[in-house]
Amino acid sequence: MEAKPAVDEQQRSPFKWRKNTLVERRRTRNDRKKRKRHQRRKENSNLQAGAMKDLSERLRKDSEQKERLLFLARKYYLKWRQNKEALRTLQVKAAKKPSSSRFGTRAKMFSLLDTRVDSNVSEITWNHLVSPKDKDGNGTTIQLGHGVFGECRKMYFKGIPVAVKLFNNLSSSWDVSHEAAAMNQCSHPSIPHTFGVNLTQKPYFLVSYFYGIGNSACTLYRALHSHSMSLSKCSAGKIMLQLCKALEHLHSKHLLHRDIKGDNILITMVNNEYHPMLIDFGKAIQLSDAPSKRKSLTALEQDEYRKKHRHIAPEIVLGQPPSFASDIFSFGLVMSDVSGKIKTESCFLEVQRKCLEIDPKLRCSISYLLSQLEIIVSLYQQ
Ligand SMILES: Nc1ncnc2c1ncn2[C@@H]1O[C@H](COP(=O)(O)OP(=O)(O)O)[C@@H](O)[C@H]1O
Ligand SMILES: [Mg+2]
Repeated sequence: MEAKPAVDEQQRSPFKWRKNTLVERRRTRNDRKKRKRHQRRKENSNLQAGAMKDLSERLRKDSEQKERLLFLARKYYLKWRQNKEALRTLQVKAAKKPSSSRFGTRAKMFSLLDTRVDSNVSEITWNHLVSPKDKDGNGTTIQLGHGVFGECRKMYFKGIPVAVKLFNNLSSSWDVSHEAAAMNQCSHPSIPHTFGVNLTQKPYFLVSYFYGIGNSACTLYRALHSHSMSLSKCSAGKIMLQLCKALEHLHSKHLLHRDIKGDNILITMVNNEYHPMLIDFGKAIQLSDAPSKRKSLTALEQDEYRKKHRHIAPEIVLGQPPSFASDIFSFGLVMSDVSGKIKTESCFLEVQRKCLEIDPKLRCSISYLLSQLEIIVSLYQQ
């Protein structure tokens, strides 16, 4: 019913109808365009909002990272400054102390490094050393042994036979100067004489007097296990007595050796008699520098440690600080190695037992050990 007037209208004025339709169409087209425009604008603004959000997120992250970096930089700078100040105070303290002990504190060790080599430990370069010659007069290498830190060679320094301990690349100059300083602090016929060190260029090395038999170094461990060298109980007793004197000297300097074992004792000949030399001061420390607390090991780790380092005292495996008593324990183990290979008297075994007490407080003192070994040697000599 409603469509009718339109038909009528169309019939009445086709021109007007056409005009109306055109207007209508245009309006619809415009509407559509408007809607599209609107939609596009909306999409654009949505996109912009997303991009803005992304950007702000990225900026926030950047500033957070920058803040973190600044915080870390500040933290490390403060730590560095603190360390520097602590080092300076230690150095000032060390400088105030009498200069007889160069191994007293870490600061002293640092000052040893600062001045490159201490006045008593001279700097030796490779050019100062001469290789031994073979039968044809050509330079040859004589290896004396090797350990954890590198290898040891026999060479000549100013015509004197020396042992050159070449440290591997993992060792620092501090390790070398530390060992040299510890040895240099001692003056005993059973502690090696040090000539100097090289700390300027790798491989770093330490030069000490050569203690050997012929062209090779003979450790107590090797002497006890070799068939060509038979130690009598008297010479074994004298070796232990001499070693005990060396240990007493070391302890009188408040130094702990911390690595006494058959591999670190050399046997040499003096006046046709066997003479021991206590070597390898790489682990030696001043008693006051002994670490008070150590990372505690699990039961399994303790077992492994005991197997690997049989000569280390039980209290150290349990995480207690090393002491003179822990060196006495290691000394007792060397005695047990000797008594395991050479038939010794019960008095020797009794002293050995007192060194190997599990409780460090029950272990015998160095003076007791010395007096007992003197008695034993005089008994053996009769
Ligand atoms: N002064 C020396 N004279 C002769 N041989 C030496 C001397 N010092 C070290 N050696 C030899 O070098 C080996 C390793 O020396 P050491 O100081 O025990 O090194 P590491 O710290 O690697 O165990 C010794 O077992 C020994 O054979
Ligand atoms: Mg060694």
